Amino acid sequence: MKRVVIFASGSGSNAENLIKFFQNSDNVSVIQILTNNPHAKVLDRAKRLKVSALSFNRVAFTKTNDVLNILKVSNPDLIILAGFLWKFPETILNVFPNKVINIHPALLPKFGGKGMYGMHVHNAVVENKETETGITIHYVNENYDEGATIFQAKCEVFPTDTAEDVAAKIHALEMEHFPKVVEKLLNE
Ligand code: GRF
Repeated sequence: MKRVVIFASGSGSNAENLIKFFQNSDNVSVIQILTNNPHAKVLDRAKRLKVSALSFNRVAFTKTNDVLNILKVSNPDLIILAGFLWKFPETILNVFPNKVINIHPALLPKFGGKGMYGMHVHNAVVENKETETGITIHYVNENYDEGATIFQAKCEVFPTDTAEDVAAKIHALEMEHFPKVVEKLLNE
């Protein structure tokens, strides 16, 4: 069984979608949700879906090896960042080389980097009068949104689209593609 750990900071709709997709899988299991936000909605989802979840603070993540040690015990084949807002420490990346991936709600390298998350991204896409946007699933390295791309999917942006319209299109792309890309990656 391939073991997946998900890091999320907020709502966790991607985490829930991944958990449900692999619920009856014979070869992939989402074994744990980790969050930096003790009030994150993803914790309610984990509880409802009966998946183990823990929250941690910045000391445990970046100053001590506490989160790293949790991961060593969990022993994941893949670590997925799905709406996780803190920079991922090199100390953890070094222990799990090529095993940490992120989903970004734009076509990187466009609209990436620090501060580019959630509605900030979709607002920027609309303000920039982009004619298309999309999602990027990529490996995580020590810089925000700069690791090698694994997969992209695109959608059109119409001149009349609001940032909320764009967010809805991106959400649909994420729900459709993310679990399949994870499955393919784990079966390679
Ligand atoms: C998604 O749009 C994802 O691409 C981005 O953050 C959002 C998380 O949404 N990195 P959710 O918490 O999975 O609902």
